[in-house]
Amino acid sequence: MEKNIVLVGFMGSGKTSVGKRLSAVLGRGFTDMDDYIEKKENLTVTEIFAQKGEPYFRALERELCAEFAAGGGRIIATGGGVVKDAENVAALKRGGIIFYLKSTPEQIADNLKYDNTRPLLQTGDKLAKIREMMAQREKYYSGCCDVVIDTAGRSIDETVEKILSCIKEERK
Ligand code: S3P
Repeated sequence: MEKNIVLVGFMGSGKTSVGKRLSAVLGRGFTDMDDYIEKKENLTVTEIFAQKGEPYFRALERELCAEFAAGGGRIIATGGGVVKDAENVAALKRGGIIFYLKSTPEQIADNLKYDNTRPLLQTGDKLAKIREMMAQREKYYSGCCDVVIDTAGRSIDETVEKILSCIKEERK
């Protein structure tokens, strides 16, 4: 079974946009985990957090990650909190190659300045919250990935090109 291409990284690091583009270029199926969960529940992520609680959302993420362990050559944009769970990471690694889209708190804050769809960032000082959460999570992202792609200051197309060239190298 062909390996999945799995994109991990903080909220607003471009996983969805990069994943869509990769899917179009490679002609492979694409799953955005948040999007999949929203459709399945017929609720937005914000509504799931508010009405059912974060643990319920995390359980849905775990179910979905388990399905990716078999591979299948899909492009997968994970939610930013997926890699905190060791079982999720094991399943994603079994079925795929993991790319960490690494950014800076300033770049993320800029990308998300008009965003109100991330319940964990609905606080007064967004940049401070991003800094705090990124510092806590960096070890998970860098610890689970096969390849780090620096995305700060890079366009979506440039990031996609980087990933494509890594995949070509892998195949040599
Ligand atoms: C989360 C990231 C979000 C979404 C939810 C929680 C997180 O996904 O799953 O709001 O814990 O980092 P994106 O990374 O696609 O924004």
